[in-house]
Amino acid sequence: MKGIILSGGSATRLFPLTATTSKQLLPIYDRQMIFYPLNVLVKAGIKDILIIVAPEQSGNFLNLLGSIFDKTGVRLEFKVQKMPRGLADAFVVGENFIGKDNVTMILGDNIFEDDFSKEIKSFKSGGKVFAVKVPDPERSGVVVFDKKMKAVKIVEKPKKWLSDYIIPGLYIYDNRVIEVAKQVKPSARGEIEIVDLHNWYLQRGELTVGLVKGKWLDAGTFDSLLEAGVYVKDKKLHEKFHPVINKAIVEFNEELKKIAKKKL
Ligand code: G1P
Repeated sequence: MKGIILSGGSATRLFPLTATTSKQLLPIYDRQMIFYPLNVLVKAGIKDILIIVAPEQSGNFLNLLGSIFDKTGVRLEFKVQKMPRGLADAFVVGENFIGKDNVTMILGDNIFEDDFSKEIKSFKSGGKVFAVKVPDPERSGVVVFDKKMKAVKIVEKPKKWLSDYIIPGLYIYDNRVIEVAKQVKPSARGEIEIVDLHNWYLQRGELTVGLVKGKWLDAGTFDSLLEAGVYVKDKKLHEKFHPVINKAIVEFNEELKKIAKKKL
């Protein structure tokens, strides 16, 4: 299983904060946002992770993560996405990295409380996504269930209410996703939509939709960014990170402090 974190995009909803840094490098309590999706993948035992970044902020990602996992067995690779072309493009950009493997993609601004390691480790083929009930489904990819909670349809940001359940940014796919993503035509908003991939698997009866149990936040607005930080602090989620990540952050901080002292 390979892992991809999509951290491209221009994050206009967070202007002017994102005029000087990337959204995924903004803090959620005591650490950069990107550590949260990284934690989901590392917890699931994924060792090869591709981080897709926008060109303007690529240097900052490298400064933070370039050698932070050197001695841990977790290997990070970076790729620049010159233009944000839609979420499904990550599988095209990541084609060589994915190779012949299956892939779990997580969005760089999605904060999950749940541990998905069982689902990721036991994945064999097809597609696996998750659903979560939200008060504002029109902001996301919406999934319609039948009476038996079987997914029947997935629609990106429907104007008319269809369901309270949305598909958050964690997607597990088999290797066919690369070729499927290449075939997807841009939507009216000019993006190749991730929901088209979900529907491709759904139509073939090969998509499983699990339910998110804990909190899910997309930290892409001022309010949700703040809410995520407060939630992490209250629930002490920062203390529940995988030891590999916590150790790397501590060591990195100490190194920075040492350098700062020397400079003084
Ligand atoms: C994207 C996807 C949407 C998904 C959401 C989760 O929307 O297009 O299907 O539900 O992420 O965060 P975006 O927030 O990028 O507009």
